Amino acid sequence: MFKRLMGNRRNAVSGCNELSEQEMLQQLDPARMPQHVAIIMDGNGRWATQRGALRSLGHRAGVKALREVVKLGVEIKLKYLTVYAFSTENWKRPREEVNTLMDLLVEYIYKEIDELCANNVRIHPMGLLSELPARAQEAVALAIDRSKNNTGLVFNIALNYGGRAELLRAVHLIGRKIERGELEVEQITEQVIADHLFTAGQPDPDLLIRPSGDYRVSNFLLWQLAYTEFWLTNTMWPDFGRKNFLKALLDFQHRERRFGGLVHD
Ligand code: FPP
Repeated sequence: MFKRLMGNRRNAVSGCNELSEQEMLQQLDPARMPQHVAIIMDGNGRWATQRGALRSLGHRAGVKALREVVKLGVEIKLKYLTVYAFSTENWKRPREEVNTLMDLLVEYIYKEIDELCANNVRIHPMGLLSELPARAQEAVALAIDRSKNNTGLVFNIALNYGGRAELLRAVHLIGRKIERGELEVEQITEQVIADHLFTAGQPDPDLLIRPSGDYRVSNFLLWQLAYTEFWLTNTMWPDFGRKNFLKALLDFQHRERRFGGLVHD
């Protein structure tokens, strides 16, 4: 599997190197577009360190990269975009870095909400939101409320999110339904579990993008990634840009997805 993954990665890079952004946009086949793209926005810290700058500068540059990707997502009429903004494990970072990330989130929401709404984007923060600092909870509540009637791109922002915490929460929710007599143990199906995740009602990601050269899932969407295609690059997230997003989409369009079955002509 690893070899296949690396092979795809090589193809993706060499196949699109010569194409301009416009040419790549033209090559996108609307019939083979992913419905749901998930991104682990990794490498902000290293990007900054490589430049002799503070990590906070890397995170700020990461927000800029996010803005570009969301804009492109809207342009290409992507249905779902999920980004990993803050994990349940990120609290282990120094307090100043956690504060910076929360400040950037708050700043992002207040600065971008008008444009996101003008672009019909529905913001869906997902994670253990009640554990976020008050200022972040207020911004998140505003983003949900302001965008709740939008019908375009669903923009999932994973905040204080962990795949294991999400599954544990689902088990608790289902367990409580059983206690109340609303559900029988035998009625628990894969669909019931999916319905109790933060992504309930959404298709699983078709494509997972991880920049920065690390090959890990990092507790992201553990249930939902069962048959997701991976696209990896050594580029750090702040440098990711529209071109890499387009490369990933074009590469995805050449993948053969079998979902454990066989492909028929
Ligand atoms: C991983 O890079 C990135 C994060 C932990 C945070 C991602 C957050 C943003 C891009 C900005 C805030 C989000 C929003 C929605 C406005 P890293 O710090 O782990 O990089 P490293 O692996 O190079 O140290």
